[in-house]
Amino acid sequence: MKTIVITGANTGIGLATAESFVQDGDHVIIACRNLDKAEKAKQYLESLNKGTVEIVQLDLNSLEQVNQAANQLLQKYPQIDVLVNNAGMMTPELEATVDGYEKQFGVNYLGPFLWTMKLLPAVKNSEHGRIIHLASMMHLMGSIKPENFKADQVKKYNGVLSYANSKLANLLFSNILAKQLEGTNVTSNALHPGGVDSEIYRELPKYQYKVIKLFLIPTTKPAALIKTIATDPKWANRNGDYVSLQTPAIKSSKAKDMQLAQQLYDQSIQFVGKYL
Ligand SMILES: NC(=O)c1ccc[n+]([C@@H]2O[C@H](COP(=O)([O-])OP(=O)(O)OC[C@H]3O[C@@H](n4cnc5c(N)ncnc54)[C@H](OP(=O)(O)O)[C@@H]3O)[C@@H](O)[C@H]2O)c1
Repeated sequence: MKTIVITGANTGIGLATAESFVQDGDHVIIACRNLDKAEKAKQYLESLNKGTVEIVQLDLNSLEQVNQAANQLLQKYPQIDVLVNNAGMMTPELEATVDGYEKQFGVNYLGPFLWTMKLLPAVKNSEHGRIIHLASMMHLMGSIKPENFKADQVKKYNGVLSYANSKLANLLFSNILAKQLEGTNVTSNALHPGGVDSEIYRELPKYQYKVIKLFLIPTTKPAALIKTIATDPKWANRNGDYVSLQTPAIKSSKAKDMQLAQQLYDQSIQFVGKYL
């Protein structure tokens, strides 16, 4: 029985991924913001009568809360076999996290960065630790500009580009982490899950959603890919990889830039340093 941690597993791709691990009899920790939804997800997963499920409250909007949630998890679980950084959001409005970061940068990237760095020692205690990041083909439109990190410094906000930036940051983090993990028992890989029918499109106007829905795939498809990355022996030596459902796994030149990845990593360590 493996210990699997999945963020944002109360719905969407995260829930489908949790289900696929529970079906294998694993112990799945669903790290969720909304506890009512998490409780419903837990009840559903337990009704499958296969693996076991536990909830940890995690709000990626606050570094303090991420720190607390990670500490809580580490106290109970010295070993984590698979960490799936799935939680993510989109917002058309310029908003700030509790710590003042632009919200998509903070919730989609910086919170998960701290979460991963805190949990890394436990993943290293696994014989074959796997860290999987939900990036997106949207990273192709993304860039990393330090002046966009803090909400009050953003001059011109575009919600779609901000989402793309956060997904580029996910991919850069996966790559630099993979480099750091070379020669260890842990791998770090990223994926674009395809255009997936989940709650992420909830902010879209209804008519736009109706059109987009025609092209969306079910959550079970990315869940199966995540499971393959996490468990298939063929993935044992794949580290720093990026795969994609529906579309070719094309990485932007920025996503391949290891100097940029290192710079972002160094800045991120400074931002979250007091919790490490
Ligand atoms: N769907 C797609 O087409 C698509 C395409 C490319 C990449 N992705 C990526 O795939 C991942 C999963 O997305 P999805 O499509 O399954 O979306 P979803 O159905 O909207 O699920 C997102 C999950 O993230 C959680 N979350 C949001 N803000 C959070 C916060 N502050 N703290 C903790 N958890 C938070 C949500 O929790 P609540 O229920 O509390 O809001 C929810 O559980 C995301 O990283 C997304 O960027 C999705």
